[in-house]
Amino acid sequence: MAILLPGGAGYIGSHTAVELLNAGKDVVILDNFSNSKPEVLEKIKEITGKDFKFYEADYLDREALEKVFKENEIEAVLNFAGYKAVGESVEKPLEYYHNNITGCLVLLQTMKKYNVKKFIFSSSATVYGEPEKIPLTEDCKTGGTTNPYGTTKLFIEQILKDLYKSDNTWDICILRYFNPVGSHESGLIGEEPQGIPNNLMPYIARVAAGQLKELSVFGNDYNTPDGTGVRDYIHVVDLAKGHVCALNKLDKESKGLFIYNLGTGTGYSVLDMVKAFEKATGKNVPYKIAPRRAGDIATCYADPEKAKKELGWVATKTLEDMCKDSWNYIEKSSK
Ligand code: NAD
Ligand code: UFG
Repeated sequence: MAILLPGGAGYIGSHTAVELLNAGKDVVILDNFSNSKPEVLEKIKEITGKDFKFYEADYLDREALEKVFKENEIEAVLNFAGYKAVGESVEKPLEYYHNNITGCLVLLQTMKKYNVKKFIFSSSATVYGEPEKIPLTEDCKTGGTTNPYGTTKLFIEQILKDLYKSDNTWDICILRYFNPVGSHESGLIGEEPQGIPNNLMPYIARVAAGQLKELSVFGNDYNTPDGTGVRDYIHVVDLAKGHVCALNKLDKESKGLFIYNLGTGTGYSVLDMVKAFEKATGKNVPYKIAPRRAGDIATCYADPEKAKKELGWVATKTLEDMCKDSWNYIEKSSK
């Protein structure tokens, strides 16, 4: 029996593959490398000392997917495939809706055909839109997403709820990630944004590496302690471990649709992140204050209690680990 990871060569999928392999699970990865590189697969093997099957394919390709289900005994699917750049999604909504939603539908239809009904979905704190309250609990209202990327997450969550309503033999876990950062301590796998990064941590790391001149801090007039945006940064290895816990829950208890926040419960501002990065790495991160970025909210962090109680999962890595490991990956991968 194996766990299928569409998008498993990507940032979060590769770290999750490592944790699943370390936990003794069989893994099958499917990826079209639209936002990742084949070398990642060798790195996963190097870290874990374990082998796994890989299919280079698009998850929109029904025949290719069927081949995977025919050739392997798949027991569960963790879906990481999809496009994730917020700004690009505003320019290319059709591409985003097609890849993220149609792809997920083809995947779910194929699972149904092969009677595989355990599914874990990579959702996002973005589904909460403007937070109703802080910290965010899973029962907070969702909606009001400000870009097509976020809306794909909202729509897929709804599709999964409707699917479960129609057939409660599905076991579905929706994981709402907060802000994943960092990389595996080996420095062998990590986040590899194409072009200029949109997200804070990869941007800071490239400024520290001298590849970008300075960080633009998007707004210092928010209603937060230092005026800059506050987020719940979570180490990607903690996040990956959350998937192993979610899978264990579906294995043991089954029968249900569950939703969990995966965050630390602590918010840090943009300036906190700059200072923490400088302290952890000894590098300088020059910055300037710039106007607010459209669609940004002031504060977003999780109440992670539900995941602690029901999954037995807590994030254990510190902000220092997040900064050090992000930097370690940049240093190793630029050699
Ligand atoms: P990523 O881009 O690194 O990984 C996604 C992987 O999916 C890539 O390897 C890409 O090549 C692959 N892929 C894309 N379209 C595909 C297709 N049609 N067929 C096959 N493979 C395809 O992204 P990530 O950061 O690892 O994110 C994984 C998931 O988590 C995504 O669904 C993302 O939206 C979600 N998420 C990410 C964040 C974040 O900040 N990184 C936050 C919340 C949610
Ligand atoms: N920021 C800057 N300068 C930059 C980049 C970011 O000041 O160059 C600020 C933002 O304004 C925000 C904070 O840093 O206050 C974090 O921004 P990110 O772009 O790193 O993350 P977001 O919270 O905006 O969004 C991320 C992902 C989304 C996901 C969301 C919730 O990009 O896909 O977290 O999980 F939906």
